[in-house]
Amino acid sequence: MLNWKIYSHFEAKLTQDFDHIFKIYQETINSPEVGFFHLPTNQILLKESLEVYECFKHKKHFIHVGIGGSALGPEMFIKALGSEKETQFTFLNNIDPDEFHRQLSTVNIKDALIFIVSKSGTTAETVAAMSILANELAKVGIYENQYSDYFVFCTDPVKGDLRKISAQWNVKTLTIPANIGGRFSVLTPVGFLPMLFAGINPQKVLKGATEIQAYLSDKTQGKDFYQLAFWLRDLHDQGIRQTVLMPYSSRLKEFSAWYVQLWAESLGKNGKGMTPIPAYGATDQHSQMQLFMEGPNDKTLFLFEIEKFFHDYELKNDISGQSFKLLSPFKLSTLMKAEFEGTLAALIENKRHVVHFKLPKLNEESLGQLVLFTECLTALVGKILDIDPFNQPGVEAGKKYAYEWLKSQS
Ligand code: PA5
Repeated sequence: MLNWKIYSHFEAKLTQDFDHIFKIYQETINSPEVGFFHLPTNQILLKESLEVYECFKHKKHFIHVGIGGSALGPEMFIKALGSEKETQFTFLNNIDPDEFHRQLSTVNIKDALIFIVSKSGTTAETVAAMSILANELAKVGIYENQYSDYFVFCTDPVKGDLRKISAQWNVKTLTIPANIGGRFSVLTPVGFLPMLFAGINPQKVLKGATEIQAYLSDKTQGKDFYQLAFWLRDLHDQGIRQTVLMPYSSRLKEFSAWYVQLWAESLGKNGKGMTPIPAYGATDQHSQMQLFMEGPNDKTLFLFEIEKFFHDYELKNDISGQSFKLLSPFKLSTLMKAEFEGTLAALIENKRHVVHFKLPKLNEESLGQLVLFTECLTALVGKILDIDPFNQPGVEAGKKYAYEWLKSQS
């Protein structure tokens, strides 16, 4: 099970209003408007995803179209746990024309399944990508009457253009429940369908998430979690408003990207928030770590240690030189551990604010735990900072003005 330890000269204490916060937080995550906490026990969404997978599992290429919360979660899972042995993946998650060209040149569109993901069903980047893909299909003689063999949609149950078009094109359409926002949607078909194509078992992911569900619903057991959130709030109030997320794992590099969106888009409101900084070890020890160690002490560092890797290498060698000799008795994973421990010790010595998270192993269960834990922490910190973590008015404003600018050009 995921566990953690806080190192800081700010004491992590639960304020007297713990009972009150526990109550209102439980009310929030159990309210009908907020659905993410209950996704791990919603088997219907998984069943629907499996049915769609069965129809298309022969496809050689999976093109995932979406942006923000409609893309970052699936990308994170595929990079952390996916195998591309059977299916090749392309994520169209930006509108850079040159990147599109590079990506499309590697795709045989006739062999591809195109998964269009948009909760609103109207996001400009996604609409643009879908239009381009329809044009690409036309180039190889595939038109609307055959689209049901190529496209699958994933969108709101009733609202938006995608929902309307799905009926017109007779395209299989998976549902993102109305009470789930984009960045909280990875444990829905948004994540399930790509997971299935990448050989990841969503059932095991959900199992991990249900463990967090049980843990956080128990007031006594979940106390440490509340303590962590209160500590972050206290740091925020002391001006420590940057949060570094640094897993010591290349597979979790995209987990940092997913977390950045979740943390920033949920908490950056009303002049409040904590700037998320993505990093990964050991690579960033030779980069941003200098700043984290000796720069302004205005950051919290979340360091993630994976206790057991899937693979390992002996460093045994006969190469001359002190550094080679020193490493020779060890394995690569031992060096990773040494770098982690060394950095942690130096950060503590420098009075930095650190949380050391431990994951016994990176697999479906532990990533499921990590996802629900991070979502719950984000929602709780939002609650105690008096921010609505589930909306994104700043993002919506940019979307609206972009459309207005386009209208002014036509
Ligand atoms: O988390 C969010 O709500 C956003 O990041 C959305 O996921 C993003 O803007 C894409 O929106 P949509 O899924 O409606 O296309």
